[in-house]
Amino acid sequence: MSTTPSFTHSKTTQAIPMFNPTNELAIIGYHNINKALEGVLKSGTYISGPAVLKFEEAAASYMGCKYAIAVSSGTMALELSLKATGVAAGDSVTINANTFVAVAEAIIAAGGKPHLVDTDAKNWQMPKVFTENTVLASHLYGNASAAINSNTNILIEDASQSFGAKLNGKLLGGFAPITAVSLYPTKNLAATGDAGVIFTNNEAYAQKCRALRNHGQTGHQLHQYCGTTGRMDDMQAAILTLKLDHFERFLQERRHLAALYTHKLKDTPLKLPVTEPNLEPATNLFVVRTKYRDALRSHLEKQQIASGVHYPTPIHQMPAYASLPWAQVSLPEAELLALETLTLPLWVGMTEEQVNKVCNEIYRFFEDGK
Ligand SMILES: Cc1ncc(COP(=O)(O)O)c(C=O)c1O
Repeated sequence: MSTTPSFTHSKTTQAIPMFNPTNELAIIGYHNINKALEGVLKSGTYISGPAVLKFEEAAASYMGCKYAIAVSSGTMALELSLKATGVAAGDSVTINANTFVAVAEAIIAAGGKPHLVDTDAKNWQMPKVFTENTVLASHLYGNASAAINSNTNILIEDASQSFGAKLNGKLLGGFAPITAVSLYPTKNLAATGDAGVIFTNNEAYAQKCRALRNHGQTGHQLHQYCGTTGRMDDMQAAILTLKLDHFERFLQERRHLAALYTHKLKDTPLKLPVTEPNLEPATNLFVVRTKYRDALRSHLEKQQIASGVHYPTPIHQMPAYASLPWAQVSLPEAELLALETLTLPLWVGMTEEQVNKVCNEIYRFFEDGK
């Protein structure tokens, strides 16, 4: 009952993998991708070139905001967003304990100190908080965090897992003055390598992020800030622009698959995701809960069905941080969620038969006396 299965996302021999990012590329058409990549190669500009500018325009237009700043990863997008808003040495930044560890890394890289809050037991998201700290609200799985309604001076959104979701008709990422999004290959808007993007309407924030991603440069050989190498390359930008053209279709598929899972699993003992009635989700991860998580994973693995855990260890219990003073907290909901959370396979191109197979095996597991 307690053995943790050893499989990972990258195992390709399983009949049903966790993700399959190649379907999106097939839908776009490899001839179109080859043409776009050939254009980049022939342009002779491979970083911060015309393809990056084109992607930034398309991304800002999708988000309905003034500036999109293309960067090298979601973690970089978070770090630069924090620095642009003025997070300084020793500043606390409030985050959820059950978000991805990159959020804590970015705060520390920006000179700040993570301040962890417990998970909302109702929807497994970061709750609304009252604080003078900067609040960095990660929306998880494709759903929305109420932390965007926090009473705070500075709010940053992390829409990495919920890019494309709409709350009251407005895209997540459009609620804070600055938003970071990961474009990692398994995300809703997925690059074929590392990439990220920052959204803002604030010109000063945009200028600072642009400078910081390029060694703090503000003019020819003039380095106003201590920056970094955080730029996006043109090959990724060219593919991402094509992906954006098909993004609504990809989101529809994700929503359809999530609705199928929800419908088919409603009579199992699993706890299913709870979304706000005014939320149009953008399911990146179909996350369920059960106290029999590890046994269910083992059962699925035996049937050649992959599954994931996002995430098995809350940030304050990670070896990297567990001994640090700010990690000396007890956050019971986040700790319980880490033991119970289970992510089922979901990707663009997954068939209804595959969803059925996963659900049937889950029924079989619980019928066997759980
Ligand atoms: C919620 C969240 N924030 C930040 C990140 C970091 O993004 P990246 O891996 O592109 O650096 C991720 C990526 O998995 C994420 O899921």
